[in-house]
Amino acid sequence: MDISDKENSCLIVGGSHAGAQLAISLRQMGWQGRIKIISEEAYLPYQRPPLSKALLAGKQELENVYIRPETLYEKQNIEFALKTRVAKINRKAKTVETQTGEIISYDKLALCTGARVRKLEICGTDLAGIHYLRNFADVSRIKGELDSPKKIFIVGGGYIGLEAAASLKQLNHEVTVVEAAGRVLQRVTAPQVSNFFHAKHHQQGVSIVTNKQVAEFLGNNKVVEKVVCTDGTVFEADLVIVGIGVRPNEELAAQAGLKTNNGIWVDEFAQTDDPDIVAAGDNTNHPNKLLDTRLRLESVPNAMEQAKAAAASICGKPTEYASLPWFWSDQYTIKLQIAGLNTGYDQVVLRGDPADGNDSFVAWYLKGGKLLAADCINRPKEFMFAKQLLAKKIDVKPEQLTNENFELKQLV
Ligand code: APR
Repeated sequence: MDISDKENSCLIVGGSHAGAQLAISLRQMGWQGRIKIISEEAYLPYQRPPLSKALLAGKQELENVYIRPETLYEKQNIEFALKTRVAKINRKAKTVETQTGEIISYDKLALCTGARVRKLEICGTDLAGIHYLRNFADVSRIKGELDSPKKIFIVGGGYIGLEAAASLKQLNHEVTVVEAAGRVLQRVTAPQVSNFFHAKHHQQGVSIVTNKQVAEFLGNNKVVEKVVCTDGTVFEADLVIVGIGVRPNEELAAQAGLKTNNGIWVDEFAQTDDPDIVAAGDNTNHPNKLLDTRLRLESVPNAMEQAKAAAASICGKPTEYASLPWFWSDQYTIKLQIAGLNTGYDQVVLRGDPADGNDSFVAWYLKGGKLLAADCINRPKEFMFAKQLLAKKIDVKPEQLTNENFELKQLV
């Protein structure tokens, strides 16, 4: 495809991190044709991580977290169709159909549809005062109900639940977190790290209950009032936030006959099995040569890097995407930075003491003596070295990782 041809059209479905980055990268790589982002949200692309942090805590507004200012899209001639949902893809005709029946044609199509919250399927979830936390609209609704101190009940002790708990506790609300598993952050961290965060929240006055499932919500005048757990425990609640994970938005691709399996199936160039369709972000299942596996990631760095690879594919300059996964979470004054994936670890060693009151340590994950990942708590320097050690697959000895006097710099 001649990327200098102004008649070409690239349609991007989804206006979040991946969608915005893809549009910007297309222009940087010389795509002269039309670029249109179709997004069901009412806003220009914004950063999602601050939703449960600075935005919920009232420290920032939407305008502060736009991925790019409106003027940049105007200058770059990137068009938007907001509040517009794509309902169908017709690959033969190379068109998409919106929910209102509008047909839009494309030469290249990018699916940046992201992920949606997993819904709690129990009685009472239709009561007012029960919320999820994924979009700006969710945060607006929650904030609209927080005019006075409230009893807030959070379902799920993952990233969203704990970040929301920290933000709301700082606004002096009474906060309880209920986690179904035996410990918070069980999906992503080792017990040492879970225990540290549990203790930190406890210190701040957040009540965390583990090994407990919610059975139903009860209300008065259609507003939530009580949370009943499967063991019969009852909690009073003015407001509930549910953060029990997300699911990839892959149905649009599946209905169009593209391969999906826990995400839209793409190759290392973000290419689907249709040469004119790419996909990037939380919605893809992609290979990672560095990790020697296929995976689906829920992470901003993944969305941005994969979007660049997708743009390169559209422009006919395929560039392999094989970055080291990394993540972060901010709670109170704690910055957790995670390098790599700890899946299958058989050993955890610590650098620093989680219990010494300094809120500063690293949990290193190893498998068969090889480094897999590192959770760095207020340790930006170690995080930087961890990324290099992992990306370059450098051999390490546990005693080097744990010894505070050993300079990790020597290894990289
Ligand atoms: N009751 C209580 N807890 C539950 C229930 C339930 N019925 N079902 C699941 N959980 C718990 C899980 O055990 C897990 O600890 O909810 C937690 C969900 O954690 P995550 O999977 O990390 O999902 P979430 O916190 O919603 O974050 C979703 O958003 O911040 C981004 O990328 C980040 O992947 C993350 C995504």
